[in-house]
Order: sequence, then C-alpha cells, then structure tokens
Amino acid sequence: SQKSESDLRSPICCILGHVDTGKTKLLDCIRGTNVQEGEAGGITQQIGATYFPMENIRERTKQLKADAKLKVPGLLVIDTPGHESFTNLRSRGSGLCDIAILVVDIMHGLEPQTKESINLLKSRNTEFIVALNKVDRLYGWKTCRNAPILTAMKEQSKDVQNEFKMRVSKIITEFMEQGLNTELYYKNKEMGETSSIVPTSAISGEGIPDLLLLLVQWAQRTMVEKLTFHKELQCTVLEVKVIEGLGTTIDVVLVNGVLHEGDQIVVCGMQGPIVTNIRALLTPHPMKELRVKGSYQHHKELKAAQGIKITAQGLEQAVAGTALYVVGPDDDVEDVKETAMQD
Ligand code: GTP
Ligand code: MG
Ligand code: NA
Repeated sequence: SQKSESDLRSPICCILGHVDTGKTKLLDCIRGTNVQEGEAGGITQQIGATYFPMENIRERTKQLKADAKLKVPGLLVIDTPGHESFTNLRSRGSGLCDIAILVVDIMHGLEPQTKESINLLKSRNTEFIVALNKVDRLYGWKTCRNAPILTAMKEQSKDVQNEFKMRVSKIITEFMEQGLNTELYYKNKEMGETSSIVPTSAISGEGIPDLLLLLVQWAQRTMVEKLTFHKELQCTVLEVKVIEGLGTTIDVVLVNGVLHEGDQIVVCGMQGPIVTNIRALLTPHPMKELRVKGSYQHHKELKAAQGIKITAQGLEQAVAGTALYVVGPDDDVEDVKETAMQD
C-alpha cells in the first residue's frame, strides 16, 4: 500500500572517516556555510547535525534528472570527528543513522580511522556510500564547479584520467582487503552487495550532485522498510552545553517520535535521573549546523528526524550519549526514571 507523506520520517545519514578527509568541508559545500574554518585547529570535536529539506536536495541534483517523487520530508546529516581520540563519538553518531557516507581522501586511500569506521558500519549492518574526496588534488585537475562527476571527468586530460583510474583501482583493492566490494557508482550494477564510490571535491563541488542523488535513491528504495514514522520516542542526547541567555541546554537527535514544548522529560544525570519540562524546542535554520551557535527557530512540536536544542531547568548534570524519555499520560514517572538510568 502507498504510504502517505506523514507516515515517513527523514532519513538520518552519518558522515564518517579518517581525520581531515573533508567530512565537514563536504557539508559546508552542500550547505553553503563555513563551519570548518571556524573549528579549533580545523578539527571537529563534537557531533554535528544539519537538516536538509528535500527541496534543497532536489535542487542540487537537478542536473542528474533525479526522480522527484521522493516523499521523505528531508535528510538529517550527522557530522562526526575523524580524530583518533573520538571513537566514542563516531560510535554514537553511527548508532543513530540509517545510512552513512564514508569519506576517503583519494590521495591517501584507507587510513586507520577509515578502517575503524568500516568496522562500526559492518557491526551495525549499515549501508554506506564512499565519497572519494579531494579529486581536485589530482595533478592538473581542471575545475568544473558543482558539476556531476562524469561531466567533470570528460574535461580532464588523459594524464589526470589515468592518475584517477590508478588511484581508484588501488583504493578498491584496499577495500577488498577489508572484505568489502566497492565500485565507482556509475559502474556499480549490484547496489547493496557492492558499495558505491562517488568521487567528490568539497572545494569545487564536483560529484556533489551525484552523492546527493545516491542518497535520494537509497531513501526511495528503503522508505517503507526503514523510514516509517513511529510514535514511540527514540531520542539521544548528543551534547550538554551552556549557551549565553539560554542556560544549560542539551542538543539531541530525535530519531523517531514527536517532542512538544512543555513535555515532561527524563534524562540520565550524573547524580541520578533528571526530571524536567521542555521549556523551548529549538532548531537551527535548515541547512545550518546545530553545533554552531546561531539564531534558532522555536517550535511548539517537532517530528522526527531532527537535530534539536532543548532548554529546560536542571540539565547541568545531564549525560551525553544517553537516551531522552518523555513521561506520557499513562506512564509512571518512577518507571521512566529507572529506565533512564539503565543507559
Ligand atoms: P575532522 O572532522 O577533523 O576529522 O576533519 P574532516 O574530515 O571534517 O576534514 P575537514 O573538512 O576539516 O577538511 C580538512 C582539510 O582538508 C581542510 O583544510 C579542508 O580545506 C581540506 N579539504 C577538504 N576537502 C577538500 C577537497 O575536496 N579538496 C581539497 N583540495 N581540500 C579539501
Ligand atoms: Mg570535520
Ligand atoms: Na579537520
């Protein structure tokens, strides 16, 4: 049976990969933002979340004549740090997602945290797309701003094309050594069995339309199976943050269900369960990063999937990485408190 739009939630896509492969820069390229240059040492140290309305994604994939029938409201993208010391954040991020983008630097191939990320994805059976990033660094690359990758490839000299082929086949071999079949997406006839590789540049935008299109196609294929909206709340605390004017806030990812202003919530605290009420439900504007301070939109209620900033009293001791619960009309608050502390 045909699912109506309200039955589907936005897919969650996590970006994983070794440090400095260009995860944040790829998102900057899609968002038209400059988050990466604002990071201390150019290193991501927190999980991020950005909501992309489907109309923006459709716009960016226009050149590829994407099927516009897609019924999910948008895409929630989770950025993670690649630095070796943030294994817990990569694990947390990958635990929330429906699909992942594994970013590999075409000049470096598979690196230690690429392999760590592969193992996380394998252990959760998460499908992923490889963004083979920094193609603009191939010697002699001719910029074709925001072009589909095959359009850009046609503009390159024989030398660039040969270096590209050589590096791609080396990287496919490296994936094979990890027990994974990969292939350039436009040659990949067995999506699912073989993971697709999309060559990209986060600096000049080549391959970005292709990357977004693959995400859209994946969502279409798995919508009913994976993206059916449930009322049952699934919500994880990403960060606990003091924001000037708002006090202590929590950044959460709402994976499924609905949150309302005023809801009584329970989160795990360092000294025991915290019971409080949602004072404000805030999101950044679409295409803006939740972890970057900016102006927020206020909401009376929010439906999954979303990255949300919650303000409430008594959040100082909240523990990042744990689940958030809502006390429903039929729930006993003591039971919910007990559940919250089991995380
Ligand atoms: P962490 O979050 O710290 O793991 O790094 P990251 O994977 O998010 O990489 P980031 O976006 O911080 O980019 C690292 C560096 O690579 C920056 O100096 C970027 O400007 C550069 N960079 C990223 N993507 C590209 C690309 O496609 N081409 C070129 N030439 N440089 C890139
Ligand atoms: Mg980053
Ligand atoms: Na970086």
